[in-house]
Amino acid sequence: MKIGMFDSGIGGLNVLKEFINKYPNNHYYYYGDTLNVPYGDKDKDTLLEFSSRIVNFFEEIKVDLIIIACGTVSSTCLNELRNITTIPILDIISPTINYLKKINLEKIVVLGTNRTINSHIFKNSLNNLVEVATPEFVPMLENNSIDTDIIKKYVVEFKNYDAIVLGCTHYPLLILELKKYVSSNTIMIDMGKVIVDSMNISSKDTYNLDLYFTKIDDNLRKNIEKIIKSTYKIHLV
Ligand code: DGL
Repeated sequence: MKIGMFDSGIGGLNVLKEFINKYPNNHYYYYGDTLNVPYGDKDKDTLLEFSSRIVNFFEEIKVDLIIIACGTVSSTCLNELRNITTIPILDIISPTINYLKKINLEKIVVLGTNRTINSHIFKNSLNNLVEVATPEFVPMLENNSIDTDIIKKYVVEFKNYDAIVLGCTHYPLLILELKKYVSSNTIMIDMGKVIVDSMNISSKDTYNLDLYFTKIDDNLRKNIEKIIKSTYKIHLV
């Protein structure tokens, strides 16, 4: 199967990694729009322009399935993107909402970008949660410059919560840091793991991974090496 996946930058690689672990025998195409990261502060029209371009790119490759490995685009542009292509498109947030409904925890906080949090996509489906925008996290991760004080500032008040939902696909890269400031009973919900567990796709192709980025530098190369442990080809698009 040819699977296309995209995000503003490296965040969606966390989702891709989960797919490769569970379904290795596919041809994966990943598109990271590093020239335009972060997406979390962009308006809807701009996000639609960027993400439509990516969907058109996948149409040319003729992928069988597109996965929006980005909370921001999932919360803002899903319906519009589905209207411009016949290729099936899955978003990253719906499986997490379904999962949260099933596990029925009491105190949940969702961390996400400004755009995702302001859409209230989580709160509209589940009323027992708190939504918090953490706009500094993505630039910190893309630039490899983690500021622990900023992370602490956001999470310390939720230290006794049952779960922290990583509502942006970049945030699994902060799990170890986040865990330092919360109770050992607080679970971290990774949307990449949730979507993979919710699916059952065929995996009978030969493994291949093509990574496309709109800007490539040393920082990006280092970040890819940290996340993706299988072989890949990298391209500038
Ligand atoms: N990783 C994306 C998300 O899940 C995009 C974050 C950004 O570029 O601001 O929201």
